Amino acid sequence: MNNFKFHARTDIRFGKEHLKDLPKVLGKYGANVLMVYGGGSIKKIGLYNTIKELLQDFNVVELSGVEPNPKITSVQEGVRLCKEHNIDVVLAVGGGSCIDASKVIAAGAFYEGDPWDLVLDSKKIKKVLPIVTVLTLAATGSEMNKNAVISNMETNEKFGTASQKFIPMVSFLDPSLLYTLPKMQTAAGTADIMSHVFEQYFQENDSAYLSDCLCESIIKTCIKYCPVALNDPEDYEARSNLMWASTLALNGLICAGKGGPWTCHPIEHELSAYFDITHGVGLAIITPSWMRYILSDKTMKRFCNYARNVWGLQGEDSLELAKQGIDKTYEFFLQCGIPMKLREVGITEDSLHTLAKATTRHNNMSSCYVALSTDDVENILKDCY
Ligand code: NZQ
Ligand code: ZN
Repeated sequence: MNNFKFHARTDIRFGKEHLKDLPKVLGKYGANVLMVYGGGSIKKIGLYNTIKELLQDFNVVELSGVEPNPKITSVQEGVRLCKEHNIDVVLAVGGGSCIDASKVIAAGAFYEGDPWDLVLDSKKIKKVLPIVTVLTLAATGSEMNKNAVISNMETNEKFGTASQKFIPMVSFLDPSLLYTLPKMQTAAGTADIMSHVFEQYFQENDSAYLSDCLCESIIKTCIKYCPVALNDPEDYEARSNLMWASTLALNGLICAGKGGPWTCHPIEHELSAYFDITHGVGLAIITPSWMRYILSDKTMKRFCNYARNVWGLQGEDSLELAKQGIDKTYEFFLQCGIPMKLREVGITEDSLHTLAKATTRHNNMSSCYVALSTDDVENILKDCY
């Protein structure tokens, strides 16, 4: 196992009925709250009214309309509101997009320049307002991690930035808030959780056995419960397992003792930067093609472990076994209702070279689990087309 640091600072309030403690939680930081939310789902599900009633005694300033793949323009507006209203704490209510936007807003409140600078260079993040989240979508893990991903559609750039100071202070995780998710968001969120695990599981280091077992358990949880949630959106057991899987998949726990640069996420971020597609859908499309592309003698053992331990497959022929595990992955996403071709999500064939070039320009793909050149990325994208 490699040396590692693991510090879990987020106070998780998991389950129904914790939200009543929101005033007490926020009160610790001050009376001026910036409430950040998306396009209106929280109003439809009644959460907006619940929170407004709970926060009657606070000065609540609202930033609504934060987009999926949150845009820097929303962040800039949030920063303006923080400065104008002397905000004490940022409350993100929604999915990863609201939480990510909130993180950069919370840092921008103390930054004089354009908050896009904080996305381009995380070293400029010096001070951050406290962040509290009420999660409504199981996917990103943003509720307990240091990452934020922001898009600039003018320049076709979608970049991640990170700071320990971004890690939310408190996150309310009520699985019943997931009941209203559209099927596609449930499926895409699950694909995102699985991809976070794949990115950490498919790495060189074979000595972090415990971390690998945790990875396999999270993927198995997704495979077991996503179909249940799709079939019965109000199945609490399914929603609660998926919600906790989302948090554990990307809070630093499962990469303890191993790690390395990711592959599918950098490729997907370019798809979103140019075509604004749903993150989890892009990942589901790319992942099986990437797996097939990198399958070789060098990676065989790990793919066989994956096939055996996650899918329960058996067989003497390693190559056949590994391929079957990959096929199962593809079929699972397909059965969850995810469109599994890039052409189906509006990506044009003539853009594939540009997307591949952008991937290798923005990321060092030569130190991934299996190094990829621009041509390799383009081949994978063609296979997904
Ligand atoms: O905008 P509203 O109206 O709220 O609707 C949202 C949005 O349209 C809807 N929704 C959320 N909760 C709902 C609901 N609809 C009904 N009922 C509910 N309970 O779902 C749509 C998608 O929301 P979004 O927040 O965009 O989804 P997600 O949580 O998947 O976040 C995706 C963003 O996070 C980034 C992605 O790149 C993307 O920008 N990521 C962030 C990471 C991180 N911070 O660590 C890591 C990830 O790899 C990822 O890159
Ligand atoms: Zn992701």
